[in-house]
Amino acid sequence: MARTLWTDDAGLPVTWDQTRLPFEQVVIALHDAEACARAIATMQVRGAPLIGAVGAWGLALALREAADDVALQSAFDRLAATRPTAVNLRWALARVRAAVLPLPVAERAARAHAEALRLCDEDAACNAAIGRHGQALLEPLRRDGRPLQLLTHCNAGRLATIDHGTALAPIYALHEAGVALHVWVDETRPRNQGASLTAWELGERGVPHTVIADNAGGQLMREGRVDAVIVGCDRVAINGDVANKIGTYLKALAARDNGIPFLVACPVSTIDPQAVDGSAIPIETRDPAELTRISGRDDQGRVVSVQLTPDGSPGLNPAFDVTPARLVSWLITEHGPCRPDASALRALPGLADPTRGPA
Ligand code: MRU
Repeated sequence: MARTLWTDDAGLPVTWDQTRLPFEQVVIALHDAEACARAIATMQVRGAPLIGAVGAWGLALALREAADDVALQSAFDRLAATRPTAVNLRWALARVRAAVLPLPVAERAARAHAEALRLCDEDAACNAAIGRHGQALLEPLRRDGRPLQLLTHCNAGRLATIDHGTALAPIYALHEAGVALHVWVDETRPRNQGASLTAWELGERGVPHTVIADNAGGQLMREGRVDAVIVGCDRVAINGDVANKIGTYLKALAARDNGIPFLVACPVSTIDPQAVDGSAIPIETRDPAELTRISGRDDQGRVVSVQLTPDGSPGLNPAFDVTPARLVSWLITEHGPCRPDASALRALPGLADPTRGPA
C-alpha cells in the first residue's frame, strides 16, 4: 500500500475517500482548497496528522488563486474551521502561513507547495521514529511465550497519517521484526473507525487482529488477555492530558485498574503548549445521526445505511474525550518515550517552534 496521500501526474494531492472504506477503494483528487476543506469536514480524510497534511495542502492550493495577506488569512480560517479538536490542523496551517508571510506575494504559492510536500515527508519520518520507540517499549511486555496482546481504539494507523500511523507504527515495526503479536481492535462507535479502517489496514499487512465491541476491552483486561493498550491522540495539553476518540478515557480507566500500561503515540505536532490542561481542549460534537444510524454492506453486497434507534429518540455525539495525564503511562513521541507532565513535554525539541502561535 502506497502512502495515504500522494501527488498525481500534475503534482497535486490525491488520497483515499475513507468514508468508502473498507468496501470500496475510491481515490479522490484534492485539487483546490475547497476540496481539501470539504474532505476534512466530511471525514473523507480523518486522523489528526492526515487532516494537518490536507490542511497544509489546502492553504498551498488557495495561494495559487490569490496570495495576498487577506486571501491567506481567509483560506487559513476556512480550513481551520473544518474540525476543532485535532491541533495538527492549526499547527500545519500556521506552519505554512509562517513560511510564506515574509515572502513577496508572487513567491508564496510555490513556497507553500514545497512546505506542504515537506510536511508530508516529515510526517512519514516522524511516525517511523514513533514506530521504533514504541517497538522498544512494547517488546519486553510480551509474556508466557504467547503473542504480545495489544488493544487499540479508533484508527491511528497509516490511514490517519501520511504513512505508518502513530499508534499502529510500533505494531507494524514489531510485526515486520517477526515478533508474534495480536491486536484487539475496538469497533469505535459511532463511526466505527476501528472496525472499518484499523481492521482493514491490519488485514492488508497481515497483522493478526480481532475486532471487539467497544465495551469488551475491560473484561479482556480482567482476564489477562491484554498486555498493553496503545492509542493515538488529537491534542495533548501541556500537563499531559490527552484528547482522543470518544471511549479512550474508559479504556485508560480499565487499564489502570488492571495494572496494564496505557501508551499514547504522540507526534510533537499534536502537543498544544497553549492548552494548560484537558479542559482547554475543544471537543467536537457531531451529528447525532452518526449514532442513531449505522452503515454497512448487506447480503447483496450493497453498502446501506439503516436506522438503529426508535423514531424520535434523540442522540448526543461527542467525538472525543479527555484522558487525564495520571492514567497515561507513556507518550511515545518521535524523540522517544516521554512522561505525561509539563516539564517533560516542555523539554521536547520543536515545542517552542514560533509557527505554533495563535491563529
Ligand atoms: O474522528 P477521527 O477519525 O478523525 O479521530 C481520529 C482519532 O481519534 C485518532 O486516534 C487520532 O486522530 C490519532 S491519528 C494518528
